[in-house]
Amino acid sequence: MAILSGKAAFSLLLLLASANASRFQPQAGAQAPLGADVAASKKPLIDSEALQARIKVDNLLTRAEELYEIAKLGEEEYNHPTRVIGSNAVPDDADRGNSRLAGHLGTLSYIYAELAKLGDYYTLSNQSFPAVSGNVFESRLILGAHVSQSAAPMGLTPPTKDKEPVHGDLVYVEKDGCEAANYPASVKGNIALVRRGTCPFGTKSKLAGQAGAKAAVVYNFEDDGVSGTLGTPSPDHVATFGISGKEAEPILRDLKKGKTVDAIAYIDAEIKTIYTDNIIAQTVEGDQENCVMLGGHSDSVAAGPGINDDGSGSLTVLEVAKQLTHFRVNNCVRFAWWAGEEEGLLGSDYYVAQLTPGENRKIRLFMDYDMMGSPNFAYQIYDARNDVNPVGSQELRDLYVDWYKAHGLNYTFIPFDGRSDYDAFIKHGIPGGGIATGAEGIKTKQEQEMFGGVAGEWYDKNYHQIGDDVSNVNLTAWEVNTKLVAHSVATYALSFKGFPERRFAVNKAYTAGIKHHGHKLIV
Ligand SMILES: *[C@@H]1O[C@H](CO)[C@@H](O)[C@H](O)[C@H]1NC(C)=O
Ligand SMILES: *[C@@H]1O[C@H](CO)[C@@H](O)[C@H](O)[C@H]1NC(C)=O
Ligand SMILES: *[C@@H]1O[C@H](CO)[C@@H](O)[C@H](O)[C@H]1NC(C)=O
Ligand SMILES: [Zn+2]
Repeated sequence: MAILSGKAAFSLLLLLASANASRFQPQAGAQAPLGADVAASKKPLIDSEALQARIKVDNLLTRAEELYEIAKLGEEEYNHPTRVIGSNAVPDDADRGNSRLAGHLGTLSYIYAELAKLGDYYTLSNQSFPAVSGNVFESRLILGAHVSQSAAPMGLTPPTKDKEPVHGDLVYVEKDGCEAANYPASVKGNIALVRRGTCPFGTKSKLAGQAGAKAAVVYNFEDDGVSGTLGTPSPDHVATFGISGKEAEPILRDLKKGKTVDAIAYIDAEIKTIYTDNIIAQTVEGDQENCVMLGGHSDSVAAGPGINDDGSGSLTVLEVAKQLTHFRVNNCVRFAWWAGEEEGLLGSDYYVAQLTPGENRKIRLFMDYDMMGSPNFAYQIYDARNDVNPVGSQELRDLYVDWYKAHGLNYTFIPFDGRSDYDAFIKHGIPGGGIATGAEGIKTKQEQEMFGGVAGEWYDKNYHQIGDDVSNVNLTAWEVNTKLVAHSVATYALSFKGFPERRFAVNKAYTAGIKHHGHKLIV
């Protein structure tokens, strides 16, 4: 900024001062924004019961309906409702008088506008970051004489050459294909067949590419298919599919007998880098050196509107942020809406990676809220333990346990294994945990007795599909869990008494056991 002359600087100061003064003047007839009286000690100190009492299921439902309308605007680009990152078509037909932003951009603008209504209770910021986004438009894998039934293109796979089908023999790769030496010379110009395991899918695809393969097929060591991702793109990656162990079995038998099995692989895909935003809101009040942080993700998958995943979590966090403004807090509360979760936890990874050690230290814990109202729900608590996770994670886990118990509700523990936005926090030494209600897992008989619903079916039968709309959310579960989220915020906003101090040793035990990064497998 250029230096102003004395006189000009003085009048600018005056201008700023008067602008500031009018900003805080309640306008006649206009309602003062919520939270405008933050400095006033009129507000009661945060109290868990009082905050929970402000959580109303009708408010949540209204927000879900608003979010679905925003997802519907995504139809313009995707032919069905979605809030996937990058979806942002602005309908330009002025006759419709419709200038609202669609899909993910619409979601961000909705969240930001709702927070802006809360006046100066929060400091708001957008954190822009580059996100690699992959789109598979069409794919097909023919193994011998059959079209593969289990073939799934890996996330972030490149297309086959010229986006045309490629033909070659399937060439068996030794061991798990984690070293260049495992790839025989005959891989060149053919299609590598590699077993899942030991190293990331991205490594296998890269080694296959370097060996000259036209494509790679990773077969599972389990009967099921593999829904994996190659992770960070590499120029050496080749078009890569995952297939089930069941489908691979007869092929492996034939190859062992010395028979030739050929294949045709076809993937039309594109990988692009786009910019998107995390939204962060932090209380102006409260000890700024000691923050409790929580978040949900603002994006959905491309396939559907994502009202349960994770409209429910991000709206829970928004509603709690709104209701918190009625109280004073002792500790700072920081809310986050992550972008790019579905592409592999991109927003939360970026956020944590950008923290200086000093900023990292201010986050006493992170609470993840992803999928709060699955239709065939279980009350799930991440089994975060102090022997494998940063110390304090277990205290948070037990806060959830105590609350469900106090309310006569059953709960189960689920693996804390890298499937959502807590991952980067744990890897960087920040205690964490959270609750969820279940995705594509199958409800057991015992869980049916504990929670109702239907045994033998997915917790969320519309997980990552077009049917994840407003009717896909169980309102009972959503309300219960939003009250619990309110309790978690209120507890730490009031005090960290009894909660462990931050430590800095990152426990390798966590990273060693991780097979996921987001919902997709990486190994
Ligand atoms: C932050 O992003 C939101 C949503 O895209 C936008 O509406 C808002 O204007 C942005 N705010 C700033 C200060 O850039
Ligand atoms: C908790 O689970 C038990 C079965 O283990 C069941 O009898 C009970 O009704 C469940 N409680 C609630 C509140 O659903
Ligand atoms: C939500 O779940 C409860 C308990 O299983 C059930 O009684 C209720 O009917 C469900 N509501 C919806 C809308 O599915
Ligand atoms: Zn999710």
